[in-house]
Amino acid sequence: MNIRKLYPNEKPPINLLLLADPSESLVEEYLNRGDCFVTEMNNQIIGVYVLLPTRPETVELVNIAVKESFHKKGIGKQLIFHAIQIAKSKGYKTIEIGTGNSSIGQLALYQKCGFRITGVDQNFFIRHYEQEIFENGIHCKDMIRLSLDI
Ligand code: COA
Repeated sequence: MNIRKLYPNEKPPINLLLLADPSESLVEEYLNRGDCFVTEMNNQIIGVYVLLPTRPETVELVNIAVKESFHKKGIGKQLIFHAIQIAKSKGYKTIEIGTGNSSIGQLALYQKCGFRITGVDQNFFIRHYEQEIFENGIHCKDMIRLSLDI
């Protein structure tokens, strides 16, 4: 699978990015500061992730999304492994990721990729998102923080 950095004047796939993060303002903000990578199928972007440097030697995978009709084919896992390789090659020592307490599939995926839970940012989604979020019948309130030493 070919994964490449978004070209300098190319429009980011905002609809895909919004699948992972419903806040358009937050997405716009981290797109300006991070590196956006994409993968295509038949000239259409079907996967995306954004890597953002946060602290010395630490980078965060702030967004990862795969077009719905391509879910469960291993593309998300390949994007994560690519992000880990990019972070390593740039000299980062730790890669972090955060997800909602209701995001059961994402928590499974990240742990299968080696990430360990490091903490809980209680009420993160209540504080930062206007709309209530429900997934898997669970109210999304807390941000589960995960990290991987690379
Ligand atoms: N429940 C349980 N396990 C799940 C799962 C789910 N809903 N979704 C993925 N997994 C597991 C798979 O079983 C697979 O494990 P395996 O390799 O042992 O078979 C592993 O995670 C990798 O799955 P993969 O096919 O690579 O994931 P994907 O291409 O479907 O992409 C997401 C995963 C999260 C990127 C995709 O579901 C998505 O774009 N969701 C919407 C955006 C989003 O929520 N982004 C993350 C925000 S924190």
